[in-house]
Amino acid sequence: MSDNARIAAVVLAAGKGTRFRSELAKVLHRAAGRSLIGHVLEAVRPLELGQVIVVVGHQADDVRAAVEASGIANLTTVLQEEQLGTGHAVQVAMPALADDIEQVMVLPGDTPMLTASTLEELLHAATDNAAAMLTAHAADPSGYGRVLRDEDGNVLRVVEHRDATPEEREIDEFNAGMYVIAREHLVHGLDRLDTGNDQGELYLTDVVEVLSGEGEPVAAVVTTEDEVAGVNDRRQLADAAVILRRRHLDRLMTEVGVSVVDPASTYVDVDVNVGRDAVLLPGTMLDGGTRIAERAVIGPNSHLTGCEVGADATVHSTRATEARIGERADVGPFTHLRPGTVLGVGSKAGAFVETKNATFGDGAKAGHLAYVGDATIGERVNVGCGVVLVNYDGTDKHHTVVEADAFVGSGTMLVSPVTIGTGAYVAAGSTITDDVPAGALAIGRARQVNKDGWAARRRKQQGQ
Ligand code: UD1
Ligand code: CA
Repeated sequence: MSDNARIAAVVLAAGKGTRFRSELAKVLHRAAGRSLIGHVLEAVRPLELGQVIVVVGHQADDVRAAVEASGIANLTTVLQEEQLGTGHAVQVAMPALADDIEQVMVLPGDTPMLTASTLEELLHAATDNAAAMLTAHAADPSGYGRVLRDEDGNVLRVVEHRDATPEEREIDEFNAGMYVIAREHLVHGLDRLDTGNDQGELYLTDVVEVLSGEGEPVAAVVTTEDEVAGVNDRRQLADAAVILRRRHLDRLMTEVGVSVVDPASTYVDVDVNVGRDAVLLPGTMLDGGTRIAERAVIGPNSHLTGCEVGADATVHSTRATEARIGERADVGPFTHLRPGTVLGVGSKAGAFVETKNATFGDGAKAGHLAYVGDATIGERVNVGCGVVLVNYDGTDKHHTVVEADAFVGSGTMLVSPVTIGTGAYVAAGSTITDDVPAGALAIGRARQVNKDGWAARRRKQQGQ
């Protein structure tokens, strides 16, 4: 059993996020490849709490599906049918607490930059107190609740921005909305909330005032704004994503040993892995769980989604989706690898090559200007310039096989389904509609005719 088995997290994710002006619930908006609520849950995961309760409401089914997909242990959701405030949201969660829970960690669902180590500090501060909360100082704390302290520095209460006097708005210490509260004190505090505020809501923040008013100390852990900033609109979403991506790049550079030539123009989502001594050149965008192996060189200007790239491969100015690029493969520039592409060891997909649902054996090459769709290309095959796999007959897609060591001359149309046998040659400019036996030469084009003196006769006819 983990040390934190008697602690439950209650994550508030029922709000609509009006300031986003979106059809999508706020906590499902994504930053650096993960939803806002997903980031919060990843910060909670390492704590191994006894219970994680997510309060859902707006677009409840979608939010529930997203949090269940996180696979976090002991996670449940509760429904807050009407969003009557953060205090109400916690009230709704209380009946779901297991009997043996002694402390409750309350977290907002819209703070994606939160980390487990900050939560550890908060837990530590709560051990000898009725409650502990996280705060931070901000150059511009507008929108946040402000922290009011007495002359000795003890926290008295939190006043929301919209309820604050001009003097209170001068306070630059804000409430992060993250607390650890002993269960019985939370129950007591929640019982005493009222709607006497500008929004007519039940504010969780008022629990702080209830406890401090009764002489129960509320410890405040001061952290940095970057750690706890809430995301309430799309500008804040973009700002958070910049910070999250930068943190991930910093980790890749310092802990793994990845070279990032220009972090500001390199967009790597948090679910992307990159191996040691790989190089990310400017204009690189990696997302969808892409994996890059050791010493691969990606970019400039490559966008890879859900791809696997082998060691020592190069991927220059390429768009690739759900493609597997083998070790030492050479891709780009200006290459489009579509889903189902598998490039073997040392293979090549060069300039203006498009592939889809195609396997290249080790050492197979399509150097330039080719479309290879629905195909199995054998080892060491050469696909010439301008080759098209004619895979679509207007109704169905068909598959082409080019066996090992075959040579497909430039400008060839391979009309699928068709098989080119091992080591066969296809003459340049052919249109191939029948299978070619192993070792054969196929020529599928009209024989050339030269008409001697034809040009002079034509000019004469035209009176030139
Ligand atoms: C809240 C705090 C504020 C703090 C700020 C930190 C209150 C009253 N205010 O303000 O002091 O500075 O967070 O980011 O607590 N939610 C529900 N059900 C509801 C209302 C909200 O689940 O009925 C959820 C929202 O989805 C969101 C979280 O609670 O994830 C916080 O709500 P939000 O409206 O963003 O609160 P703030 O105005 O930011
Ligand atoms: Ca907020």
